Amino acid sequence: PMKRLTAPAIRARKGGEPLVMLTAYTVRMAQLLDPHCDMLLVGDSLGQVVYGLPSTLPVSLDMMCAHGAAVVRGSYHAMVVVDMPFGSYETSPEQAFASAARILKESGAAAVKLEGGEAMAETVGFLVRRGIPVMGHVGLTPQAVNMLGGHRVQGRDEATAQRVVADARAIADAGAFAVVVEGVVEPIGVAVTQAIACPTIGIGASAACDGQVLVAEDMLGLFERTPRFVRRYADMAALIDGAAAEYARDVRARSFPGDAEIYAPK
Ligand code: KIV
Ligand code: NA
Repeated sequence: PMKRLTAPAIRARKGGEPLVMLTAYTVRMAQLLDPHCDMLLVGDSLGQVVYGLPSTLPVSLDMMCAHGAAVVRGSYHAMVVVDMPFGSYETSPEQAFASAARILKESGAAAVKLEGGEAMAETVGFLVRRGIPVMGHVGLTPQAVNMLGGHRVQGRDEATAQRVVADARAIADAGAFAVVVEGVVEPIGVAVTQAIACPTIGIGASAACDGQVLVAEDMLGLFERTPRFVRRYADMAALIDGAAAEYARDVRARSFPGDAEIYAPK
């Protein structure tokens, strides 16, 4: 089997062939996406997508560890990155290390991702110097939804634009091996990509980023969310709806199970 990609290998892709990343939360999805992806993200978006929560804020470390382990078991090529959930890292670098170490030990993932800019730079450096690769996440950071006042595109005004670039630079300079840039006006995606030495992974950012990430359920048409930045590659909701309708019809008509689907006695 192929060896998994590593944080240094991902970092070395700056300015090269674009990095391919999708979210995965379950073993079967990981198995299906792994051959096509450089990285699989066990995103805290699983709060909404898997658990029907109103935001990512209630997501627990237990949830991230359990889903992270499932995705690691279902993949062998992609690097698996697990989101640090809200409340598990912001207090101090020590709190962040304890949470990140738990994620790596319990899931087998090779890196964590955390949201934030300059305020998190010290924490990123603390983790990196202790052997934990960190992916940053700047721009529209969903864990800060209550401060941002909604899921608003960032960088439309000059002050916010400069803050996003400064945040990315702080996280990159602190040693992050890559930085997700989410929900920013396109020129900010370009500016951040030019400003930092490690790869940028865009989502609602820019084609100029060093890679792209999407929530798999969004691009598969499995989750009822259609922001501008999502491209639909499949309509799996319609497939599942059709299959369930056919199954229901067959059960009600007693045409399922058929002769080939029952066990005959000896
Ligand atoms: O949680 C998530 O899925 C993410 C990506 C959208 C970047 O953080
Ligand atoms: Na996330």
